[in-house]
Amino acid sequence: MNFADSEVVGSILQGAGHEVAESLEDADFVLINTCAIRDNAEQRVRHRVRELRAAQGHNKSLRIGILGCMAERLQSRLMAEEDNVSFVCGPDAYRRLPQLLAQVREGQRGTEVELSTTETYADIEPVRLASNGISAYISIMRGCQNYCSYCVVPYTRGRERSRDPQTILTEAKGLCEKGYREVTLLGQNVNSYRYEAVGFPELMDMVAAISPLLRVRFATSHPKDLSDELLEVMASHENICRCIHLPVQSGSNRMLKAMNRKYTVEWYLDRVESIRHHMPDCSITTDVIAGFCGETPEDHAATLELFRRVRYDYAYMFKYSQREGTYAAKHMPDDIADDEKTRRLNEIIALQGQIALENNRKEVGREYEVLVEGESHRSKEQLFGRNSQNKVLVFDRKDAVPGTYRKVRVTDCTAATLIGELVNENQ
Ligand code: 5AD
Ligand code: SF4
Repeated sequence: MNFADSEVVGSILQGAGHEVAESLEDADFVLINTCAIRDNAEQRVRHRVRELRAAQGHNKSLRIGILGCMAERLQSRLMAEEDNVSFVCGPDAYRRLPQLLAQVREGQRGTEVELSTTETYADIEPVRLASNGISAYISIMRGCQNYCSYCVVPYTRGRERSRDPQTILTEAKGLCEKGYREVTLLGQNVNSYRYEAVGFPELMDMVAAISPLLRVRFATSHPKDLSDELLEVMASHENICRCIHLPVQSGSNRMLKAMNRKYTVEWYLDRVESIRHHMPDCSITTDVIAGFCGETPEDHAATLELFRRVRYDYAYMFKYSQREGTYAAKHMPDDIADDEKTRRLNEIIALQGQIALENNRKEVGREYEVLVEGESHRSKEQLFGRNSQNKVLVFDRKDAVPGTYRKVRVTDCTAATLIGELVNENQ
């Protein structure tokens, strides 16, 4: 989401006559787009801000601005604590950046943190800042009002609002015409996308119809809203990717209730079953939190059990991090010791590593249509790409070209990567 937002910021600033600087010596401003979801994300930003003091010593005109959720959460407190920061700008205030930069140039500091109920940046064509020219993000909605008890997002990104579908279609068509082959539709909870008569299944149907060559992905789904109607639309379009990110957070009903997730383990497993019924080859990935308030060894064991049942292809796994202002911070003690959180997290990581490897071993011998994305990190002789399930495949380059689809046969694997060879379709 921040990646997509930075591209909106790039567009707003280019429109005001700014350019991307080649180096810190050359720059007048450094803008850091930040996440506030866990404390360690914030600590990394603070570290970066402090490191930038050296660059500011060499380049006296260099000013630092903090964008995104950390700016929204801490507001002017952040400038008091980090005195080399000149301005903060929250996620709904990016249109004010040109004025803010002008003001800062004149020696003032600035705080723009007003949240909006309507801002979607629908009319702004993002500058594809770090794009490979093949795959792009399209933000379709902003904000979240699910109020999971541990989560700071509803406070930093404001209320949910959806973007006009016509502007989304125009953006996706434009990307396809420029040669892009994949778009990922983004929102905190894409299943609750709604703009007048258009809900998320209808939107997916329209985006998928743009071109069979344009793959469509999306993130993130809330399990409470994952409908059969969406699964039917997915199953009816080959270019909608067979991959669903379905954050579970915990395998214990007691914890799900405390987290205010509004579903049970039984509901979640029913959704998993429905996904597999509609698309037997669909991969499922998740997010999980270890050591939430009051989590007992039994609750943790239930999470491990759920992982064994679902057999995710990938999981983002976190230790609970208390966030000021959330319901949990106000009403629930953060009572699991840090080393116990780490122990539980490591147990989940070890189990998931084993499951991912076993899942990948079953892929050996299968053939997949892969969108070739670029050179592999390890060797110039090899390329990498992803299959519809979002798994990375690495293979010898031969005559393959990034930005095209090629058939690849899986010959080997690790827990994270499939290794394969090009299949010559003329034979
Ligand atoms: N502590 C740990 N993990 C969190 N997440 C959200 N809030 C917290 C928190 N306070 C995780 C959830 C969410 C993902 C984006 O981040 O798993 O799905
Ligand atoms: Fe946070 Fe819950 Fe909203 Fe996800 S759905 S952004 S975890 S409040």
